[in-house]
Amino acid sequence: MIRLIKPYVTFEDVEQDFRNMFDSGMFTRGQNVEGFRNELLTYTGAPSVFLATSATTALWLCLKNLGIGAGDEVVVSDFSFPATANVVEDLGARPVFADVSPDTFNMSAETLDAAITAKTRAVIFVDALGNPTGLTRIAEICREKGLPLIEDAACALGSSEGGHRCGSIADMTCFSFHPRKLLTTGEGGAISILDATKSDWFDRKLSHGGQGMRGYALDFVDYGYNFRMSEPQAIMGRVQLRNLDEVIEERNELRATCIKHLEPVGFIAQKRGANVVHNVQSLVFKVPDDIDRDQLIGQLREEDVETTIGTYAISATTYYRDRYDSVQPVSDLLFRTTLTLPCYRGLDAEDLCGRIINAVQTQRKLG
Ligand SMILES: Cc1ncc(COP(=O)(O)O)c(C=O)c1O
Repeated sequence: MIRLIKPYVTFEDVEQDFRNMFDSGMFTRGQNVEGFRNELLTYTGAPSVFLATSATTALWLCLKNLGIGAGDEVVVSDFSFPATANVVEDLGARPVFADVSPDTFNMSAETLDAAITAKTRAVIFVDALGNPTGLTRIAEICREKGLPLIEDAACALGSSEGGHRCGSIADMTCFSFHPRKLLTTGEGGAISILDATKSDWFDRKLSHGGQGMRGYALDFVDYGYNFRMSEPQAIMGRVQLRNLDEVIEERNELRATCIKHLEPVGFIAQKRGANVVHNVQSLVFKVPDDIDRDQLIGQLREEDVETTIGTYAISATTYYRDRYDSVQPVSDLLFRTTLTLPCYRGLDAEDLCGRIINAVQTQRKLG
């Protein structure tokens, strides 16, 4: 079976650090959590970084920090995983879906403009499938309009635009370390923020509201949550962060091979700007116009090739369509016509493309 993704971390990579963790008895709040946090700080170039339990809790906490609630609107990129809108919905605010560019799959200046109203209180830009193209322009617009910008960079650790890595561009950035991402801690996430004066707030809210000590006890100066990452997760994260740039280069090479073979038969790759490093979290193509995407996924499964959809048009998912009836046309088209290809170390991209082309030819013959 050609799998969609394989982890870049092995047991041997973490074995010694895990032994040390067991010897120390520190399973949370230990040196690896501190180390991973500092290394992410250096890697992203952000003034402040916090580790969290997932991108979802990270996004939710950022909205909480902004005081988002009932009566507010938050503009969200529509071509994304539903978590991007769920966090807005959960706080009683309204997610307003911004359509995306058919080339980059990201919110653009025009689609953002069309979604802003007098009730808009924040914007969530999504790096679709890890691609940050257009983020810097959206950050400028948000600054001009006085709107806080949250970047849903769940897929985008290691990507950059204009030489600035994701995490150092938007006011707040949220990362995911779910196993579909390039760097995985099982579940896990992180937040980076530009305004370091908010650091104490994030530190205490992530950890029950505690800050400092009162005698021999923690001082709970606020109420809060437990969204902390644990030591085993941080060990996994540290090991992978060291090799992340190498992984990104490899994935870009695989992408280039697939483009060479698949564009001549009608596939179109997701586009990115000339000043962008795209981590290729997902290797996604629009299928040729005459090809039925779902049928192609089924055909490839029969040939032992695992592929899947690009991602979702959130506005077209059952819950959001029923609730807001605001399906975004470009995003909806991408939801129905994009395909994620396998991409991992050691993949034979020539063989993969051969199998895809065979499946396309079979469909064309039958069609
Ligand atoms: C764009 C986007 N945002 C948010 C999430 C949620 O991430 P997590 O599973 O870490 O909560 C995902 C997960 O795939 C995602 O792709």
